[in-house]
Amino acid sequence: MSNSQTQIELIQPDDWHLHIRDGDVMRDALGDTARQFARAIIMPNLNPPVTTVDLAKAYQARIESNLKSLGINGFTPLMTLYLTDNTLADEIQRAKAEGIAALKLYPAGATTNSDAGVNDIKRCYQVLEVMQQVGMPLLVHGEVTHPDVDIFDREAVFIDQVLEPLRKDFPELKIVFEHITTKQAAQYVRDASTSGKNTIAATITPQHLLMNRNAIFAGGIRPHNYCLPVLKREEHRIALLEVATSGNLRFFLGTDSAPHAKGAKESARGCAGCYSAFNALGLYAEAFDSVGKLNRLETFASFYGPDFYSLPRNTKKITLTKKAQNIPSEQPFGDATIVPLRAGETIAWSLS
Ligand code: NCD
Ligand code: ZN
Repeated sequence: MSNSQTQIELIQPDDWHLHIRDGDVMRDALGDTARQFARAIIMPNLNPPVTTVDLAKAYQARIESNLKSLGINGFTPLMTLYLTDNTLADEIQRAKAEGIAALKLYPAGATTNSDAGVNDIKRCYQVLEVMQQVGMPLLVHGEVTHPDVDIFDREAVFIDQVLEPLRKDFPELKIVFEHITTKQAAQYVRDASTSGKNTIAATITPQHLLMNRNAIFAGGIRPHNYCLPVLKREEHRIALLEVATSGNLRFFLGTDSAPHAKGAKESARGCAGCYSAFNALGLYAEAFDSVGKLNRLETFASFYGPDFYSLPRNTKKITLTKKAQNIPSEQPFGDATIVPLRAGETIAWSLS
């Protein structure tokens, strides 16, 4: 079904879910993203996490100083706060006034640096009430963490146990179901009824559009294809590709590019996270091209994200070309190295 088109022009995209870490390695994680995207939602799961406006402002200043030293202009980090059981309602008012873009809900223990996350969402109800009032989006890592729930079912169970009750209690709260991985999540977001204003959306990563869970075990264990939520069966990948390319405004781009040093991935207890930032746009173009839907890439990558966040769309244009790009086997990451997604192979599309 792949079509013969070899070039596509689109308004510059944004990345609505990104990890760039902190300290020495941040510089290396930031450059790849800023070459492709105009803005990115910066995840707050540092250690210790970004739980207050002051911490977010300080983190933003460190990002800006790295951008400056990289000589990058025209990239805007959109800052988020990490929701905890102890977040104060007053902090939400401040966050709104200071231009914080969203709060992130990590169920405690769900993923990298989530230990300080939420143990019981009911403890956050006062905070959620204020978020609903002031129009502050809640970004959710949608997995339950109970050890009895199979890892491949954690997202689907989260919908029934947490997300649906939450949406009933806060019908006006803007929620982004982050990095969805299952047909249940795709269907839930597609079919969710909202009263008037659209209050629900989902981001989708390139790895979940391009790979199924076989990729974690192809010819031996492949730690660089391990992320959370973990890759699922082929039927789920197909369902995600279908909604991503359907032109539905509830689905937009969020890479979840999540760098970990090579040694931390290739280890007895390897970290979760795929580093897709090297050529994320190429990966998305490949996915859309695989079903002949390149014409739907621009709305997914460049329009529906800012629309949901009530931010202006970008105006600059970029061109993607169908020309195989070699992906390095590793690249610098502070004192260490990082192995990008598709390392040592090629990606069919790239930024011109
Ligand atoms: C992310 C990370 O490493 O920070 N890892 C991942 O597998 N996606 C955390 C997250 O978004 O779950
Ligand atoms: Zn993430």
